[in-house]
Amino acid sequence: MKKYIYLFKFKDDEKALFELELKEYFNSSLKDQKTIMTSVDRDVESTIFTRYKLDVEISCDTIKELVDILEERKYSLVDYKIIWAKNEDFEYEYKQQLKDIRSVGQSILGDFNLRTPTCIYGVTYAFNQYHFGKVYTHTNSWMKHINKPYSYSYSLDVRLARTLVNIASKGDRECRIIDPCCGVATVVLEGQYLGYNISGTEINPLIAENGIKNLGYYGYKNSICNMDMFDIKDHYDIAILDIPYGVCEKVEESFQIELLKGCYKIADRLLLVTCFEFEKQINSVNFKVVDVGFVKKSNFKRYIYLCEKY
Ligand SMILES: C[S@@+](CC[C@H](N)C(=O)[O-])C[C@H]1O[C@@H](n2cnc3c(N)ncnc32)[C@H](O)[C@@H]1O
Repeated sequence: MKKYIYLFKFKDDEKALFELELKEYFNSSLKDQKTIMTSVDRDVESTIFTRYKLDVEISCDTIKELVDILEERKYSLVDYKIIWAKNEDFEYEYKQQLKDIRSVGQSILGDFNLRTPTCIYGVTYAFNQYHFGKVYTHTNSWMKHINKPYSYSYSLDVRLARTLVNIASKGDRECRIIDPCCGVATVVLEGQYLGYNISGTEINPLIAENGIKNLGYYGYKNSICNMDMFDIKDHYDIAILDIPYGVCEKVEESFQIELLKGCYKIADRLLLVTCFEFEKQINSVNFKVVDVGFVKKSNFKRYIYLCEKY
């Protein structure tokens, strides 16, 4: 079975969110590490926490052993570059990294191309072994979506929005997702970028229009409808609800609970984003919390509840 190593990087205040994504999207967990080896194949760009993905071809105990294997196999590549994929769990001296990748590079047949390679291979050290294989480097593609034409102070952070789609979908391409209070389409945009069947509803016509313009700006199709979520007739696998919490006008808790009940009708599962602890309210509408994470930004904390029906 194919194995992949994912080398992650995250800030301390994103750890709980990262762990939730790791569990739901990679079906994995960590023990104070920032590295996993798994058979789960995910696009390196899909998750904001992945720095490198290494498609493991050879694992061995020493660089000498790796070099011997490559030479014995007459391993050959065209137009290639070899890099060291940094493992955040492990201090590996820079000079040694260079020395090791030079030895590995010299044992590969074919022409290398440091400036414009067509394939990048690499070495990392993880789980007490050296691993060699094709390397995919994260390019921070999510940053392109930061400067969307329309945004509000309450719009979700792009990094969080992309992570929410992964947690909600669990990587299942068939998953039907709805963001019933979609605002300017932050989540819908990330969902479309990631290739999911995702739509949104927004009650405010001006905000809905701006959401549609945001999607159009990046060349995505319109999957937003200016309507009240309580009028949704379709059924979805999961609703991602960034609950209105009253930045501009007061939002009563009773209304928030009505929104949860609305989600119960239209979706099998719910991924809820709130600014307060909300477990009691979630239970009151017969959803149960199966997983929870949070993310902090200065004094602001957002809770992320993954809910299923009782
Ligand atoms: C917290 S904001 C969502 C922000 C969004 N995640 C974004 O990044 O732009 C909540 C949104 O829900 C919308 N909303 C409130 N009640 C609604 C309803 N019954 N149906 C659809 N949208 C509703 C509000 O107009 C507001 O834009």
